[in-house]
Amino acid sequence: MTKRLFVKNYGCQMNVYDGRRMADVLAPLGYVSVAEPDDADLVILNTCHIREKAAEKVYSELGRLAHLKRRRRMLIAVGGCVAQAEGEEVLARAPVVDLVFGPQTYHRLPELIARAERARTVDTDFPADPKFDSLPGAAAPQGIAAYLTVQEGCDRFCAFCVVPYTRGAEYSRPVSDVIAEAGRMVAGGAREIMLLGQNVNAYHGAGPQGGEWRLARLIGALADIDGLQRIRYTTSHPADMDDALIAAHGEIDKLMPYLHLPVQSGSDRVLARMNRKYRAADYLRIIDKLRKARPDIALASDFIVGHPGETDADFADTLRLVAAARYAGAYSFKYSMRPGTPAAEMEDQVPEPVKVERLARLQDAIDAGQAAFNRATVGRVVPVLFDRAGRGAAQAAGRSPYLQAVHVDCATPADAARLHGRIAPVELVAAKQNSLAGRLAAVAAAPA
Ligand code: 5AD
Ligand code: SF4
Repeated sequence: MTKRLFVKNYGCQMNVYDGRRMADVLAPLGYVSVAEPDDADLVILNTCHIREKAAEKVYSELGRLAHLKRRRRMLIAVGGCVAQAEGEEVLARAPVVDLVFGPQTYHRLPELIARAERARTVDTDFPADPKFDSLPGAAAPQGIAAYLTVQEGCDRFCAFCVVPYTRGAEYSRPVSDVIAEAGRMVAGGAREIMLLGQNVNAYHGAGPQGGEWRLARLIGALADIDGLQRIRYTTSHPADMDDALIAAHGEIDKLMPYLHLPVQSGSDRVLARMNRKYRAADYLRIIDKLRKARPDIALASDFIVGHPGETDADFADTLRLVAAARYAGAYSFKYSMRPGTPAAEMEDQVPEPVKVERLARLQDAIDAGQAAFNRATVGRVVPVLFDRAGRGAAQAAGRSPYLQAVHVDCATPADAARLHGRIAPVELVAAKQNSLAGRLAAVAAAPA
């Protein structure tokens, strides 16, 4: 019997990957994915706990689902990092919830659902056997630009961060598993693979002939897969950026010239409080080396403003680092106190209005840098992977090597459709804040 499954993902790309794997696990039970919760038999909220705002969204969504559940029989499950962090509390706070499961237990969903049909159920174990060993292959193609988890969890314990508690200790998948999964993705139509990990450049998976492989070697092996045209990885810790990985950016053509390398702060004092294990000058040296290896590499970052103890002088250091790093873009967040983390216990919390003001100033600086980067690419011809629908049938949309969103207006909807799934040279003609307009540089699209 067919049953309808609705998964809503919050937060990071790994949740998108996990959400798909949940659907894979449930496919043999007859579950098919639907786009709306209204007539679903099972709703899974795949949640994020990184900041308070993200975590609270879940409870407002559960309020809406309570109305639906009054009208029809459905199971409501909360998975992901809020589930891991709050466990039983989710049941207490939201009577509508039938099942709570963590990021490390979703391979057990069939059995958990059967239990939840009888009584409210919580499973937030960290099983000894990694879930990857019991996940089935993908039930559906993963798309043209696919995500592939190679590493999960984190052992770095930055003072502000919940990840080591919600995702657990660092784990790297064996090389042969990663290569097999990538091969299946490419056979299913993927042209780009984004390797995922909370601290992906700490990757140290078991090699096929014994020994451990670091990320650079894994990327080198993936680059040998025919039909795979682009490789990316995210997210990295600066202290795990080894020389081989830096060199790979200059040596492996399929590795795209774009790197998200979060620095979090430009102040050495704050970096020490954050337990980041590098100074601002170390970080700038690393990105210098990256630019030497791959001169056109575009860099992006994350920043936290208002971490406990951050003074005006510390914040000024952050603005100086932004200017020195010449980012193509960055995410910035107000520090959010997370229960159970060391930073939440620190005395010198920064008042909210100060955080608001610093965030606005930092975002202005980042936006200006992003606009300058996008403007500087206008006039260049770059290969664009057309991986998504544009606005309107005659528009094709995709990504440049620098992860810029690019759209091309075609003569007819058929021309736009022909580009889908292919890489074609595009001349960038105009820059907007978040995207670029381009036109095809060749008469016909280059074959993929
Ligand atoms: N408050 C604000 N931002 C945070 N991040 C992680 N933890 C917190 C927190 N407690 C940010 C970091 C990280 C990104 C994924 O989220 O910048 O790189
Ligand atoms: Fe969190 Fe990233 Fe630090 Fe790990 S390295 S604790 S995931 S911010």
